[in-house]
Amino acid sequence: MNELSVCEGVDVLMEGERVAKIGPRLDPRSVAQTVDARGGVVIPGLVDPHTHAVFAGTREDEFLARLQGLPYDGGGILATAQAVARAREEDLIETGRRYLGEMLACGTTTAEVKSGYGLSLDGETKLLVAVRQLRRSLPMRLVATFLGAHAFPVGIRRDDYILSIITQMIPAVRRRRLAQFCDVFCDRDFYTVAETRTILRAARGAGLRLKLHADELAPVGGAELAAELEATSADHLLKVSEKGMAALKEAGVIPVLLPGTAFTLGLDYAPARRMIDLGLPVALATDFNPGTCLIHSMLTIIGLAVMKMRLTIAEALTAATLNAACALELAEEVGSVEEGKAADLVVLDLENYRQIPYFFGQVPVAAVIQGGRVVYERPG
Ligand code: NIG
Ligand code: FE
Repeated sequence: MNELSVCEGVDVLMEGERVAKIGPRLDPRSVAQTVDARGGVVIPGLVDPHTHAVFAGTREDEFLARLQGLPYDGGGILATAQAVARAREEDLIETGRRYLGEMLACGTTTAEVKSGYGLSLDGETKLLVAVRQLRRSLPMRLVATFLGAHAFPVGIRRDDYILSIITQMIPAVRRRRLAQFCDVFCDRDFYTVAETRTILRAARGAGLRLKLHADELAPVGGAELAAELEATSADHLLKVSEKGMAALKEAGVIPVLLPGTAFTLGLDYAPARRMIDLGLPVALATDFNPGTCLIHSMLTIIGLAVMKMRLTIAEALTAATLNAACALELAEEVGSVEEGKAADLVVLDLENYRQIPYFFGQVPVAAVIQGGRVVYERPG
């Protein structure tokens, strides 16, 4: 993670959607269009492997009340679920387009988006169909995750809701190919390890890949379960145990860390240094959602990782690109600038990559290229 390959004074030749060649000065007359990085830094398109970017409404009152001492108990998920229930699919697409468009302008070319604010067959389907529409219309690679097990809706018994996830929602998600991953909020006061296991086994049986919101609020053994199920990733991990980290390593599960959430909630950060020292391929994500993190820039997340979790800038960049791509099983396609991989690039108006965390909070993005096309250019 700490070894970047940095090339100076090279050109990147793109053909179609891919990088064809990286090398010293190519002849500009032989190419159709040239993008001048103007001496800036070109990094791989950023990959955000954990977001809840499609939702309705906002929760600033809960946010401010929490800062006055109210603890975070996840109860606000139901408030967002009510707003989603009232929203039309077009409304979800419109707000999703705004948030995801802002992420793209911050250099994110690949993002995962979870459902989880529907909490019913209709609601979850509406969210995932909105993600599908956004995938068709935005110049971003979007990966959908079904998170029906995000909270317990009111008015239905716990076991009955879990049964409806397994017998109705997962089969519908499979039939309509609405998601690639299934995720469960496995934590204190949310889904128990046993409930999570039951849901994720059903999801796996339906051909979905697995993710977990694990050990965010308490060390309940979410990481150990992620290892047992050979999930693709275990996310959050603020309270993960030493045993949990060893299990992740053993099973090859990617830890996805979300420092923007720890920052927003005022909680201790995940033990990222310990994980890296154990040889775990740490990935970073925003967790952008209406309750616990409104940061949607991966550049800001890289800054937090460097300042608050003591990652080196090289480790943080790897975590936000190639390791994040691994957390979406897309490492063959995206996450690094390599011949044959997708031509997803971000041009930063910086002198070198070490300035990324230094200019924390600024948006030094001059241009974003996705699939070989310039999809964003800073105005002016
Ligand atoms: O990843 N931890 C659980 N779910 C979200 C928060 C959802 C919400 O509060 O709306 C998260 O932080
Ligand atoms: Fe989350």
